[in-house]
Amino acid sequence: MIPNRVLYNQRHLKYQDKINLGAFYTPQKYVNIVWDKIKPFLNNKSVVLDSSCGYGNFFNYETICQKKANDIDPVAVNYMKKFFPDIEVFNKNALSNVSRDIFNLSADDELIIIGNPPYNDTTSIIRNGIKKDNMQVDYDIKTRDYGISFLLSYAKLNANIVCVLHPLSYLIKRTNFNLLRRFTNNYKLIDNVIIDSGTFKETSKGISFPIIIALYKKDDSGMDYDFIQNYRFRPINGHDFALKDFDFIPNYINKYPLKNITPEENDILFWTMRDINALKRNRTFVHRFGYNTIIIDKTKLDYYIYVDVFKRFSYLIPYYFGNLDVFINNNLFQEYKKYFLREIVNRHFFLKKHITYDKNISVKEAEENILKYFSILIGDHYVY
Ligand SMILES: C[S@@+](CC[C@H](N)C(=O)[O-])C[C@H]1O[C@@H](n2cnc3c(N)ncnc32)[C@H](O)[C@@H]1O
Repeated sequence: MIPNRVLYNQRHLKYQDKINLGAFYTPQKYVNIVWDKIKPFLNNKSVVLDSSCGYGNFFNYETICQKKANDIDPVAVNYMKKFFPDIEVFNKNALSNVSRDIFNLSADDELIIIGNPPYNDTTSIIRNGIKKDNMQVDYDIKTRDYGISFLLSYAKLNANIVCVLHPLSYLIKRTNFNLLRRFTNNYKLIDNVIIDSGTFKETSKGISFPIIIALYKKDDSGMDYDFIQNYRFRPINGHDFALKDFDFIPNYINKYPLKNITPEENDILFWTMRDINALKRNRTFVHRFGYNTIIIDKTKLDYYIYVDVFKRFSYLIPYYFGNLDVFINNNLFQEYKKYFLREIVNRHFFLKKHITYDKNISVKEAEENILKYFSILIGDHYVY
């Protein structure tokens, strides 16, 4: 353990450069989890590599195995060379000309990759304007997200074990999962811990999202999306869950705008739905049509009302569900629907003319029953 060193951290970087490099450094408690997980695989042929090491937080750990480190940032690399004289350190773009050669690795080395690669979606709308997309990336690992490209680079290096932190959304969102194919065809998730992005000092602005500390082992049968849907994820403080535990709202309504239609007089408009975290940030019912709005199929209005009420009560949902679609227990919802309808007209007056609701139910009674619905829906995961 090297106490004062970590305090330096990446002070030389301006906020904008930190975003571009994804330079947010990992707390010691998570580093320890990674070493605990790789320990059973260490032997005298092992080489442990962090190809985006920053100030080397992952090497603040007592161990005798062979280690290699790399970062694109020369200042971080100089620091590494000074404070970790026993580690072979490289100053390379880990996504360009990827091969074992660039890190002086032989085919016989049993490569274990650890770390917390940068994860920034180069098409992300939130902080567009700050991010540059000018990094050279090999064509076969180029994607819209550096973190996904990093995972692909580990497969290209033919790593035996990978234990890194990355957004859980890479696995659970099907579009991301599909981008990972060259990785997921060759690796299997064998252990995990889910942690809260808000526990990283510098990223805690905004809404927390789940990060997985994922242990992958090389495996020719790989993993498909069905494997992920059945896989049990384990939040560090909380109860485990699998995607298969839930029924999701896109099974009932159309999430995306239909092309080439414009609204008519009596249409109801809704903001495009993404995941639960996006719902927390975005609007629901809107009154002006645009590229981000959908026209509601009125026969399914109840489900849009459900989503709006879900947003209102989303404080009951733990961070680790942040990248899931809105979920629902449809039978239970049918039972409790009258309370949802009563609650919504209290906030969206204009819906009165589109729905029938029970005027004898008080707003208080409606809210109490909706809380009951959510406590059953969320079960053990309910945030008190
Ligand atoms: C999230 S930080 C993690 C640093 C360290 N692994 C830790 O957890 O403390 C990501 C690091 O990746 C580096 N980086 C970004 N793009 C890179 C690239 N293409 N090649 C190598 N390093 C890169 C950044 O300079 C930054 O130090």
